[in-house]
Amino acid sequence: MESPFKPDVLKGKVALLTGGGSGIGFEISRQLGLHGASVAVMGRRKPVLDSAVAALHLHGIPAIGVEGDVRKRDDVVRALESTIKRFGRLDILVNAAAGNFLVPAEDLSPNGFRTVIDIDSVGTFTVCHEALKYLKKGGPGKEPSCGGTIINISATLHYTATWYQIHVSAAKAAVDSITRSLALEWGTDYDIRVNGIAPGPIGDTPGVSKLAPGDALSSREQMPLFKLGEKWDIAMAAVYLASGAD
Ligand code: HXC
Repeated sequence: MESPFKPDVLKGKVALLTGGGSGIGFEISRQLGLHGASVAVMGRRKPVLDSAVAALHLHGIPAIGVEGDVRKRDDVVRALESTIKRFGRLDILVNAAAGNFLVPAEDLSPNGFRTVIDIDSVGTFTVCHEALKYLKKGGPGKEPSCGGTIINISATLHYTATWYQIHVSAAKAAVDSITRSLALEWGTDYDIRVNGIAPGPIGDTPGVSKLAPGDALSSREQMPLFKLGEKWDIAMAAVYLASGAD
């Protein structure tokens, strides 16, 4: 599909994406790169990262991979430092790292609940918190009057109630709340735009194949357009938000 945006809309910008090596995160990495950004991808699985970076290079996108877990503050610091070392600045932070599995609440251990909160909610906060000094106006490589932007990837599971997703629903509700608080505080203080994207079911992703196997999503009520969303849809929303178009 042809992008509705000019190919240089993100020229000169640098992006860091957690969970940017696979699924929706990778498509956002790719589209930010195809629209001119340099891209640093953080993820837990080295082989996945390596193939993501190789694919970005094939498109001619300047890209690095940094192995790490958003639950570990040192990994987050290292990912940010590697991004600055390689590209000199940070303009766009995308928090796409997430953990998920289907489990009835009755069978979920408190540690299982905590694990997903740690990845999705605490991880998002940790990365935002450590990235602040690079994103704020006047940060490395940045004009004194201009801050960067944060995009947090959430979900729609928690808008009502979703079977066997108590942990993820709680975690994504917290992500949405973090997005609003940071938009208020860091928008006011540092000219950083903080936005969220809440994808519904998106085809060809681990989320849908793990959480909605078979025809679980075939009802018209769940999908008024009678088709799954596409990773491209989400990536285009990210390009728009990252571009500063207004
Ligand atoms: C019940 C489970 C479980 C399962 C793990 N646990 N998997 N409980 N059912 N299937 C419990 C464990 O028993 C343990 O608790 C605790 O969780 C930690 O498990 P670990 O395996 O030690 O954790 P870890 O290795 O850190 O892995 C975390 C993980 C992750 C969340 C399980 O590996 C994972 O799922 N990764 C997949 C990433 C993914 O699918 N991303 C796409 C997200 S899609 P105890 O008590 O035993 O110690 C998305 C979109 C949502 O978010 C919207 C879609 C429509």
